[in-house]
This record gives sequence, C-alpha cells and structure tokens, in this order.
Amino acid sequence: MSGSIVINGGTPLQGTIGVLGAKNAALKHMVASLLAPGLHTIENVPGILDVAIMGQVLEHVGASCVTDGTTLQIDVPETPNPEAPLELVRQMRASILVLGALLARTGEARVALPGGDDFGARPIDFHLRGLEQMGVEFDLRHGVLHAAAPNGLTGTDIFFEFPSVGATENILLAAVLAKGTTTIGNAAREPELTDLAEYLMKMGAKIDGAGTSTIEVHGVERLGPATHRTVPDRLEAGTYLVAGAMSRGEVTVTDCRPEHLRMELKKLEEAGCDVAITEHTVTVRGPDIPMATDIATLPYPGFHTDMHPQMVAFLSVAGGTSLVTENIYSGRFRYLGELNRMGADIHADGQHVVIRGVENLSGCEIDGCDIRAAAALTIAALRADGVTTINDAQHVDRGYDGFVPKLASLGADIRRT
Ligand code: EPU
Repeated sequence: MSGSIVINGGTPLQGTIGVLGAKNAALKHMVASLLAPGLHTIENVPGILDVAIMGQVLEHVGASCVTDGTTLQIDVPETPNPEAPLELVRQMRASILVLGALLARTGEARVALPGGDDFGARPIDFHLRGLEQMGVEFDLRHGVLHAAAPNGLTGTDIFFEFPSVGATENILLAAVLAKGTTTIGNAAREPELTDLAEYLMKMGAKIDGAGTSTIEVHGVERLGPATHRTVPDRLEAGTYLVAGAMSRGEVTVTDCRPEHLRMELKKLEEAGCDVAITEHTVTVRGPDIPMATDIATLPYPGFHTDMHPQMVAFLSVAGGTSLVTENIYSGRFRYLGELNRMGADIHADGQHVVIRGVENLSGCEIDGCDIRAAAALTIAALRADGVTTINDAQHVDRGYDGFVPKLASLGADIRRT
C-alpha cells in the first residue's frame, strides 16, 4: 500500500497499545531458518512489508512461508537454491544476511549488493572481510556477489573495527555450521542479535557470549528446526511513546522489554517526560513544553540511531537548543528539510544536528523519506497546527504493523489515503 498519511494535529494521545516482535529480529530469524531443513515456527512476527519481501527471498531459495496472524511457518528444503534475486535484495539491506546462511548450508551463494534506506554510504566490507577469513572467495560480477567456500567454512578470530549489527549476524550465521571455533570480537550487542543467537541455540547451535562484545561460536555438523518467539520491537515501542509525549498526552506500551529502551527513556526523562515502567510495560506522559537535551547515537546500549529522527521531531518544540550527534550513519538528515517546512528550526553541521526549539509547528505537505523519518514526521504532525500530509507513506509499512490504526486507537486524528 502506498499513498499518504493525513494528520490533523492537536489531539493529545491517551491510552494503551501493544507492540509486536522486532522487525530487525524477525527478518534475521527468517534467514536463520535456512540453516536447518524442516519446519520452523517463528512467533510474534509483525505484518510489515520487509517481512513480506524477506518471505519472497526465502521462497526464491526454495523455502515455503505460511503466515497465520503473527505466526510464520517456514519449511526449509534439504538443499536450498544458493541464489538471492537482485530485484528483492535491492529493496532491503537485511537480505545480505542470506550470504552467511547460504554459504554455511551449500558452500556457495550468489547475492546482489543490497539496497535499503538512504543514510549515506552503507558498505558491507566487514561482512566480506570476516567471511574471507573463514575461507570464502568473492567475485563481484554485474552487481552480483558470487561467493564460494571451496574447502568449507573454517572458524577463526574475527575482530570488527565497528560493532556492525549486520556483519556480526552474517558471521554468526556462517559460523554455527563452520569447522571449529569462531571468535567475533567487538561484536554488536543489540537485543535483536541476542534474540537471533537464542533462536540458533534452540536449533542446536553452540554460542557463548551473545549480548557481550565477544561471541564464541563452536561449529556443529547439523542444525534442526525450532520454534521461537521474536523479542518485542523496542523501536515500535519507542516511537509510540515519543508520539504520546509530543502530543502532550500519556501513552502506555505493553508487551515490551523496558530494559531494552533504557537510554531512550533516560533522554525522555531529561526532556521533561514522566516515565513509569513495569516488567513488560512503559508509560510516558509528555510535558507541555519539552526541555532541550543533547543526544549522541551509539551502538547498543547507547541511544539507538533508529530513534534519532523521532527525538529530533520531539525536541523541535523544546524550550531551548538541543544537539543530536549521529554517530552510526553519515547521512541520516534528509527528513530535516521536511521538519523545517513545518516550521522547525534545525540544521545539520557534519554529523551534528542543532535544534532550536520553536513554539509551534504547522501542518503542510511533506515526503516520508524512510521508515523512521516517516514516523518522526508523523510525530511532528500530531502536534502541528492544522493538517499535515505525508507522501510516500509506504515507508512506514516497511517497519510498523498497523501504524495508522494504532495511532488512531490512541485518539489521533489520522487516516491513510
Ligand atoms: N558498516 C560498514 N561496513 C560494514 C557494515 C557496516 O562500514 O560492513 C557501517 C554502516 O555503513 C553504518 C554502521 O557501520 O554506518 C552501522 O551499520 P550496521 O551494520 O550496524 O547496521 P545494519 O546491520 O546495516 C541494522 C538495522 C538498522 C539499524 C542499524 C544500527 C536491520 C535490518 N537494520 O542495520 O535498522 O539502523 O542496524 O542499529 O537490522 C531500521 O530498522 O530502520 C534500520 C535502518
């Protein structure tokens, strides 16, 4: 579904909303299922566009995917086809992970170079160098990576210069069926990656240290199918909490893991929100005028880059000047022009975003840009005077299941055209 999101701002959001499993975990679980033939069950999977695209990638390599509500069953063949199609991989960066899984299963893979959101250069050199260390040879022809491990995959010591989520996952997927032990140093520690490791362990993988910066993987001969419930989406939770705060309302998010949002909640408190947590819920009440606060995005447990646009939208109406430093991506700033069109006073200088708080935003017609930008612009529109129309609304469908109905259930005057 494409089209626009139309929001008439000014209504404080009130109420309770549940979140589903994390996009950035469910997509990886889908790829991980390729590591073992048989019938896998992945629960708590959001009904989003990226999951549908990944389903098509899996079907192309020979698996069959059946969805029943939020439960996804994946039947993986004994011998997958080692090729992921260009037109699908181009649409979604997470599909590069089939590289590690297909190499582990078949000793070869042909995968197009990935696309995804436009945040500046997003190379995959860490993925490739790590796999090379494990015995993979690469040849890039006409935009397609031809990968082969003529002598199989062999465990080794890999140390990343940056804790890349995707590179850590790709090596993990390759290492679980490799010969010997693979040690991943400076590994990413994101909860979605820990969740992937838990699923792999249910399949029979031997993994120590997931969730820390050193992961040790002892390769096994064969894995079996498993059932796993996807970890709750901290980004979906965080987005609705900021939306509630921006609208001067009070929103409770259920079915989430508040400990995965510690830094984001700390920043909301610094900005003047009241935050209350229980084991699986978070309630945030927004102030009339947020206080200016400074944020630096960092790998987990630091402030998540995928919550940066939403917080910038919130701080655009703060009583003072805030500085948000983006340390993960070189170019996550396209949406700033759209916020300024709504009356915000924001400029980017290198990796820094300087936000001078304004009293009011006003609705107008803007472009969605990418998943989190579209969410951030919706957040701004919830407080803006008058009507905002966000075009390219399909961006939110990539990452949020039922974005518009969920906000409407909290009282937002919002619709999809
Ligand atoms: N990087 C390299 N070389 C590599 C790999 C990464 O230079 O080989 C750089 C990237 O260019 C980027 C930084 O390292 O500047 C971090 O990239 P990372 O590999 O950690 O990110 P990713 O795996 O491509 C995932 C999420 C993103 C999220 C990042 C950071 C998925 C499908 N995507 O991307 O999510 O922003 O981790 O946490 O898991 C989103 O959900 O909206 C989204 C973009």
